[in-house]
Amino acid sequence: MADQDTTTDDLTPERSRPGSEPQLKPQVLSFDEVAAQAHTAAQLDLSRGSVLEVDNLKMYFPVKAGGLIRRKVGDVQAVDGVSFQVPRGGSLGLVGESGCGKSTTGRLITRLYQPTGGKILFEGRDLADLSNKQLKPLRRDIQMIFQDPYTSLNPRHTVGSIIGAPLEVHKVVPKNQILPRVQELLEIVGLNPEHYNRYPNEFSGGQRQRIGIARALTLNPKLLVADEPVSALDVSIQAQVINLLQDIQKEFDVAFLFIAHDLAVVRHFCPEVAVMYLGKIVEIGDRDSIYSNAHHPYTQALLSAVPDVKQAAIGGRRERIRLEGDVPSPINPPSGCRFRTRCPIAQEICAKHEPPLLQIGKRHKVACHFPGPIHQHPDKPITARLLGTDDAGSPDPGATPSSQIANKPGYDDTWYDLDAKTFGRA
Ligand SMILES: Nc1ncnc2c1ncn2[C@@H]1O[C@H](COP(=O)(O)OP(=O)(O)OP(=O)(O)O)[C@@H](O)[C@H]1O
Ligand code: SF4
Ligand SMILES: [Mg+2]
Repeated sequence: MADQDTTTDDLTPERSRPGSEPQLKPQVLSFDEVAAQAHTAAQLDLSRGSVLEVDNLKMYFPVKAGGLIRRKVGDVQAVDGVSFQVPRGGSLGLVGESGCGKSTTGRLITRLYQPTGGKILFEGRDLADLSNKQLKPLRRDIQMIFQDPYTSLNPRHTVGSIIGAPLEVHKVVPKNQILPRVQELLEIVGLNPEHYNRYPNEFSGGQRQRIGIARALTLNPKLLVADEPVSALDVSIQAQVINLLQDIQKEFDVAFLFIAHDLAVVRHFCPEVAVMYLGKIVEIGDRDSIYSNAHHPYTQALLSAVPDVKQAAIGGRRERIRLEGDVPSPINPPSGCRFRTRCPIAQEICAKHEPPLLQIGKRHKVACHFPGPIHQHPDKPITARLLGTDDAGSPDPGATPSSQIANKPGYDDTWYDLDAKTFGRA
C-alpha cells in the first residue's frame, strides 16, 4: 500500500528535522530522481572482509495432507542451496519475483526459522543449529526491519516502550537510562524525541518506518536484515528512508541484507546484488555486473521491465523481455534449471542438469548453461565439459567433471573466462 500521508515527510534529504511541521509537497518523481537530489549510490569496500557468510542454506516447509492424520506429502522448497557473503559494513541486495524465497532467507539469517540445511556463519560462528538460549546474545547483533510499518508496530504500545523494549530485555542499560537512549534514537531517525509517549497510529507511514528503524538500531547491531523496508511507502518518502538507512549505515557501521523487488532502489543502496528465482540464486555480482552486464536470461528479463535501468541493462536497446507463464510451484520445481519452463533460450541440457553458479568475472557469478549478454548467448552449453556431459546433457565418458564449480559463498581469485573457455585470472 502506498503511503498516502505525504504531509509529514517532505522531499528534504536531511534526516534530522525533529518536530518539523507538516509540509505539503506533492510531486511525481521516479525513485532515481528523488535519490539524485540526495545521497550518491553506496560504494563497495571489500577491505574489511565479510560479516555474514551463508553456505548452501536450505529451508523446506513440510506440506501436510488434509484429514485426521496429517501426514507429510511433500516440501515447499522455499530456499534451496543459497550461498553468499555480506561485506562488513556493506550491503547485499536480494531481488526476485514474489515467492522466490527472499523473506525466508532473511528469516533464516535472523533465525526466526530453523534451517533445513546449510550454514549461517556470522562473524565466523555458525548460527544454523544454535538453541534459543545460545542465540540470545547474538540476537543483539542481527536485527530485522520489516516491510509494513502499519503492522510491524504494536498499536497498543507507545513508541517509547516499542523502542525501549529490547534495552530492557537485554539489560544493556540501567532502567533510568532507557528513556534518554530512546530519545536519542528518535532523534537519530529524524523524529521528535518528545514524541516518545505517542502511539504508532499518530505517525505517518514514513515516520512509522523510522520508528521500526530506531527499534532495530536499539542494540547497536552489526547486521540489519531489511525486508522490503520501503516498498509500502510513497516514492518520495522511499528516497528519504533510503537516505536515512545510508546515514545509519555509516554512523553505526552496520551491514545490510537488503531485500527488495524494486531493482532501482537496490541499485542505489547496494553495491552488490543477488538475484533469486524459485529458491535459488541465479546470478550474483557487483552493481556493474548485474545492472550493466547481466548474463542470466532471468536477470535480463527483470531488468528490462524497469524503466530506469532498462537501457544500461540491455545494451542500449529499448526492449521489454516478457516472460511467458507463471512461476512454477516450489513444491514440485522443474528438473535441471528451475527457470527452464519460462526461459526463452532453454535447450535439452537445461532439463537434465542444474546449472552451477559459476564465477565468470572478478565479482560475478551466474547459474546458466548458456550465459551471455542479451542476444549473445552461446549456441552450445558452456557447462557441458565442466559437468562431464555432452552438449545435450548426456553423460560423456571422455569428460571429467570439474572440481571448480562448487557452490561456495564468495569469490575466488580465478574464474571461468567465457571467451577463453577455461579457468584463469583476467
Ligand atoms: N511458513 C511457511 N510455510 C509454508 N510455506 C511457506 C512459508 N513461508 C513461505 N512459504 C513459501 O515459501 C516460498 C517463498 O516465500 P517467501 O515469503 O520467502 O518469498 P518472497 O520472495 O519473500 O516473496 P514476496 O516478494 O512476495 O515477499 C513461497 O512459495 C511461500 O509460499
Ligand atoms: S540454464 Fe537453460 S533454462 Fe536455465 S536460464 Fe540458462 S538457458 Fe535458460
Ligand atoms: Mg517477502
